[in-house]
Amino acid sequence: MRVLVTSLKGGVGKTTTAVHLAAFLQLRGPTLLVDADPAEGALVWARQGAGLPFEVAGPEDARPKRFEHVVIDTAGHPKGKTLREYADKADLVVVPTSPGMLSLVSLEQFVGELEGLPLKILVTLVPPFPSLDGLRTFAHLKARKFPHFKNAIHRLAAYEKAVLAGTVVQNIPDSRALRAWEEYVMVGREMLKR
Ligand SMILES: Nc1ncnc2c1ncn2[C@@H]1O[C@H](COP(=O)(O)OP(=O)(O)OP(=O)(O)O)[C@@H](O)[C@H]1O
Ligand SMILES: [Mg+2]
Repeated sequence: MRVLVTSLKGGVGKTTTAVHLAAFLQLRGPTLLVDADPAEGALVWARQGAGLPFEVAGPEDARPKRFEHVVIDTAGHPKGKTLREYADKADLVVVPTSPGMLSLVSLEQFVGELEGLPLKILVTLVPPFPSLDGLRTFAHLKARKFPHFKNAIHRLAAYEKAVLAGTVVQNIPDSRALRAWEEYVMVGREMLKR
């Protein structure tokens, strides 16, 4: 499977999503994460601490043919050419989107740019109850008839700790780490169902 993780907006959880979907796919077969972000977020994550349970490479060093699954992480607002180059080869384009009006406005624009591609929006960074931001975001996606994952990713400190420790969230000693990992497992299962 070839999965592209991209968005117009920065800081919406692209790298976090790419890393955990790669960890999910690695359980099923050899998986490569291509870090196509010049800021090298995923490469930095992989280099520090405990390490990641799958291969991470920059676009020049990547040997995608050797892997069953490939996940590509991009920078926010990737250049049109980069986007098309990767998107045209992807089985699925995952677009992480955090709640909030400005996120949804930039999503609107991005969905236009990605027209015709196998797109699926992932709602990320959902604040805890009693916030209704997550529900509002889903209502908006539904009203606009935008294809989206039914499962969302919540705002949990465990994800941030995983970056600091240079590992995946399931290895973090945090009471919510397992829940955090299960959220991506649910999204991963949805991804395979299509
Ligand atoms: N679900 C979450 N809960 C809590 N913190 C999160 C979550 N997802 C991401 N973060 C944190 O938010 C920050 C941005 O996440 P991330 O780097 O994954 O986003 P990005 O879209 O890749 O950003 P960029 O556009 O800069 O590449 C990071 O510090 C990350 O640890
Ligand atoms: Mg990133």
